[in-house]
Amino acid sequence: MGDKQRSESPVVVVANRLPVDQVVAADGSVSWTRSPGGLVTALEPFVAGRGGAWVGWSGKAGDAPEPFESGGMHLVPVGLSEDDVDLYYEGFSNASLWPLYHDVVEKPEYHRTWWNAYVQVNRRFAEKAAEVAAEGAIVWVHDYQLQLVPAMLRQLRPDLTIGFFLHIPFPPYELFTQLPWRYAIVEGLLGADLIGFQMPAGASNFVQLARRLHDLPAKGSTISYDGRTITAKAFPISIDVADFESLARRPEVVARAQEIRQELGNPEKVILGVDRLDYTKGIAVRLEVFLELLEDELVEAPSTVFVQVATPSRERVEHYVTMRETIEQQVGHINGVFGSTSGPAVHYFNQSMPREELAALYRAADVMLVTPYRDGMNLVAKEYVAARSDNGGTLVLSEFAGAAAELKQAYLVNPHDKDGVKKQLLRALRAEPAESAKAMKAMRRHLAKHDLEHWAGSFFAALQAEAQ
Ligand code: ADP
Ligand code: F6P
Repeated sequence: MGDKQRSESPVVVVANRLPVDQVVAADGSVSWTRSPGGLVTALEPFVAGRGGAWVGWSGKAGDAPEPFESGGMHLVPVGLSEDDVDLYYEGFSNASLWPLYHDVVEKPEYHRTWWNAYVQVNRRFAEKAAEVAAEGAIVWVHDYQLQLVPAMLRQLRPDLTIGFFLHIPFPPYELFTQLPWRYAIVEGLLGADLIGFQMPAGASNFVQLARRLHDLPAKGSTISYDGRTITAKAFPISIDVADFESLARRPEVVARAQEIRQELGNPEKVILGVDRLDYTKGIAVRLEVFLELLEDELVEAPSTVFVQVATPSRERVEHYVTMRETIEQQVGHINGVFGSTSGPAVHYFNQSMPREELAALYRAADVMLVTPYRDGMNLVAKEYVAARSDNGGTLVLSEFAGAAAELKQAYLVNPHDKDGVKKQLLRALRAEPAESAKAMKAMRRHLAKHDLEHWAGSFFAALQAEAQ
């Protein structure tokens, strides 16, 4: 790769994962499937629409495949060895930073070997981005796995305009300063011209850190550092609302939604959860609450069923292994006690599903249950609202998801308060159709204006303004 490739990419996205994951079959043949998670959901339409380049990992340990074209994007793989996956991805990214940034829902571990791998892999990503970006290009770096890339890239390519967006929450000073490498992370991020956060609180946490930890002059959302001015601001992420809505309106999706209800035994009420199988998502809480409602005879199965779709995620990280066991035990217990020959009370799928099937599930559900202990945004909640062009369905949403600041007409819950979740779930199940339609309409009106284009467009406009 030389200057030819460099001149091709005026916009470069850098993220831990490519939008597609490499799958190697038993016969050695290679195919690619869509990668999990909200980052890909949000960024893919944006990059494809601009014919940009995307630098990221293929999802498989080993040498990097050759760059290739896919869906209007130029994909540039970065290789991660088995050790890199172990130490940088599963270790520092997902067992140090992930729990620390999510309110220490689980205890983070800090190991020097993990940190050293994080530094090395971040350098590799920065070098690859530096090769691919055209002169004066805009490079947009994403998420907690790559917080050192902005400063590394600036050193290699001072001509670039560099943006960074954090998809997960950014913790307050009192938690962040646990990190043994706290200075280096802040310095890494300060390599960007613009640092985007999901919520205003994340942005002000960062400005405060720059001020208190690094003694930097800061005013409002700007920080002075190294002769530059850096802006730290909130840009709440969203989805391609019109696209998701038109998918959910397709006759075959609407028909599939009806078919799903039939397959579930035509219950009166369908409760739905859709998540990556992650301990931050509060899946166990939902199951506990559903069990208590069944025990208290406030709901009955199978006239009310709970469908939980949980995509496998980070399956070798210890907390994920134990959480999966807990959830499978809970599902087994509930179905053992409350299932019958006419069907189980909980339908649990540890699988990834095509978007069409998810859209049909959203349209089939009376209540969407979204209960994370902490979540940067939660795009599932937004997908549910976008899918309900019939104004049907109700949303139960954790106060601790970024989406709660926007979807204010949802039944908001504190997932630590089981009685509160029970109460709100019952209200959602018993809501008058006119009342829930009014709430759904209001949420849909908000979302129509605050879609993916609004998010990416406002971030980009702010980044370009920094470049002037
Ligand atoms: P996170 O980024 O933490 O995974 P989000 O709710 O923001 O959480 O985004 C999750 C994305 O992954 C959504 O676009 C959702 O549709 C998708 N997703 C979640 N579960 C599944 C599943 N079982 N199959 C396919 N896609 C899924
Ligand atoms: O922002 C959440 C996030 O970690 C993204 O960076 C990522 O795309 C998604 O969740 C899925 O996680 P992973 O890449 O670890 O499977």
